[in-house]
Amino acid sequence: LPDAEVLVVSNREPYIHNRTEDGISLQTPASGLVSALEPVMRATGGTWIAHGSGSADRDTVDRDDKVAVPPADPTYMLRRVWLSDEEQDGYYYGFANEGLWPLCHIAFVRPAFREEDWRQYKRVNERFADAVVQEADRDDPIVLVQDYHFALLPRMIRQRLPRATVITFWHIPWPNAETISICPWREEIIDGLLGSTILGFHTRFHCNNFLEAADRFMESRIDREHASVTLAGHETMVRAYPISIEWPPAALAHQPPVDECREAVKRRFGLPAQARIAVGVERFDYTKGILDRLHAVDDLLIRHPEWKGRFVYLQAASPTRSKLGAYSALQAETVRLAEEVNARHGSADYTPIVLSIRHHEPTEVFEIFRAADICIVSSLHDGMNLVAKEFVAARDDNQGVLILSGFAGASRELSEALIVNPYDTRSMGAMMDAALRMPAAEQRERMRLMRDLVQQRNVYRWAAQMLLDAARLRKRARILDA
Ligand code: G6P
Repeated sequence: LPDAEVLVVSNREPYIHNRTEDGISLQTPASGLVSALEPVMRATGGTWIAHGSGSADRDTVDRDDKVAVPPADPTYMLRRVWLSDEEQDGYYYGFANEGLWPLCHIAFVRPAFREEDWRQYKRVNERFADAVVQEADRDDPIVLVQDYHFALLPRMIRQRLPRATVITFWHIPWPNAETISICPWREEIIDGLLGSTILGFHTRFHCNNFLEAADRFMESRIDREHASVTLAGHETMVRAYPISIEWPPAALAHQPPVDECREAVKRRFGLPAQARIAVGVERFDYTKGILDRLHAVDDLLIRHPEWKGRFVYLQAASPTRSKLGAYSALQAETVRLAEEVNARHGSADYTPIVLSIRHHEPTEVFEIFRAADICIVSSLHDGMNLVAKEFVAARDDNQGVLILSGFAGASRELSEALIVNPYDTRSMGAMMDAALRMPAAEQRERMRLMRDLVQQRNVYRWAAQMLLDAARLRKRARILDA
């Protein structure tokens, strides 16, 4: 795509400027979407449009609300869109995170659909459509729309820039038609997405669910052979593009050898010198299965008391969306359960579960991965889950065991991980014991295969496949126009 203009739209921005006591600090948010797309934007250049969420964001932009990033070595522009508290409450906290998020993850948190949230959601989608039109220098840009915050945006862009190529990627699961039908505005959501030229999901399964919903709720024509949906003469390709990470990850550069990482992590978190370490690293989100994992640690120490004093579980959890009841309740319950398990198995100088509840920058996350004997990703449901891929990427020593939920998209690719059912805490505990006993040679074999896969199917390939498909469709449209 030699001379194409590329615009990305997402809710979360790749760089957040915050005011601190010593001036302005820069934060990389904990978001799989951001870790995947940031390297792609560094490579392609262009403009990334996102919500300006940091307390010092306004101080770092120019008159057009733009700032060149990455700050140290700029290669693309970040355009910030400012949202009022009402917009944030309705669009982000409300419809996106209390409606679509639990709905799509089927996480047994009842989705809430409120008229006022929906109104703000539509309004914010309009505001981002305005920003896209403002930022587009040509009438045929390639717009990469990201995630469930913007289901209506593809249609809005199509109406205002009919020649645009809109590639929409849905980063979370798309559930079956029965589940989607719970949403009172399901037709509008599906119609909005069908404004896309290409609509991408992580797995074939999610694509099929979407086709089923389009078939059931819309007056559209489904072509299962070519996996496309035609509505009112406009065709949308529905394809699986499993997202990934950059290879090698930037956060891996300048990491000391694994032994040093292990010493540093043990010192920082006060872990016993001889202990084997299992880690979990994620946003503090109820879809991640953190409570079930703590129950599994409990189970491990009950059934295998020989690990007492010789095993610790380190949970790095970055608080997120804490304004919402389901999130604050999870944080409180996690702290309570950790204390209970620690009281049961711990002693004055042994704490089996260590919680680190704060933001962790990518460099620290990679250091934790390198320090770990085991990494546990036990999401109850997850579109892809990039933590699993990052752990594998962090282990250039080919050691470490990945325990991975069968309900995360990543389990389709990383089949050499120990695959678990995160709801079955007893077998998860048994899996931890097996991981702790796995010989180095077996760890190496499994790790090598997983590393090869992630290296080959990295995020540049993910982006390239979508852009190549888009290029083909653009050429075809030009031939048909002529
Ligand atoms: C998931 C979503 C992303 C989101 C990220 C972090 O990965 O798919 O769209 O950016 O969570 O959540 P937050 O609400 O903090 O942006």
